[in-house]
Amino acid sequence: MVKRFCLYSFLVVMILIAGCEAQGDYQGLEFSPQMYHSVPYEPLTQVTDREAGEWTSSLDDGVGEFYNSNPNNPYAMNVRIPPANTVRRNSDHYNPSAEALTDVYLPYRIPADSLEYAARTLKNPLEVSDEVVADGQALYASFCYPCHGGAGKGDGPVGVVYKGVPAFNVGRYRDLTEGHVFHVITYGQGRMGAYGSQVSQEERWKITRYVQTLQQQP
Ligand code: HEC
Repeated sequence: MVKRFCLYSFLVVMILIAGCEAQGDYQGLEFSPQMYHSVPYEPLTQVTDREAGEWTSSLDDGVGEFYNSNPNNPYAMNVRIPPANTVRRNSDHYNPSAEALTDVYLPYRIPADSLEYAARTLKNPLEVSDEVVADGQALYASFCYPCHGGAGKGDGPVGVVYKGVPAFNVGRYRDLTEGHVFHVITYGQGRMGAYGSQVSQEERWKITRYVQTLQQQP
């Protein structure tokens, strides 16, 4: 009895130890693998090794249980680029003009109370061009002009009644860094509301570029 108990405990411990090895592409030892690996093509998985999980396969389709790649797609990719003009759920997560994965915006994670950190570390990822500034100007006209005014003097139609809107080209506002401006647009500041949910990251960086031209006014 004791012997059998020891044997079973030993086996359980060995299985647990083997399972702990999971890392990278290796999922560790799985109990009942068919429960985790879906039969349909899953967009967020891409197992290209046709033999992966062959030992546990119960189908005679010639491929392993874990194999998950769609041969009908280019490069057998499970995930597809959405068709043109698809309405994005969140433009911060997918940038259709992105050429590399590094151009895709990840969610903005700097917390609201870390303005100083954002101001010090953030850099505008967009290229320096008149086009970016022009886009920024158009966005500024929709979202900022009502309070900050066309020349950023704090004298927009709302700004004149909603007191305390600063001018961008005076005092400390002249020296606000691009990270600072971006962070303030995202979360708001004092009496100014947050625009992070209405304006995507890329748009916020464009607006920031335009605000910088207003800061530099004499
Ligand atoms: C409803 C009016 C309103 C709108 C719209 C508005 N702001 Fe503001 N903004 C304010 C007010 C008021 C302040 C002063 C906030 C404070 O310190 O209390 C301010 C402050 C700022 C500051 C200075 C922040 C600091 O650190 O002192 C920046 C930069 C700024 N706004 C940029 C923008 C941009 C860019 C937009 C458009 C996306 C925008 N604001 C839209 C009212 C507005």
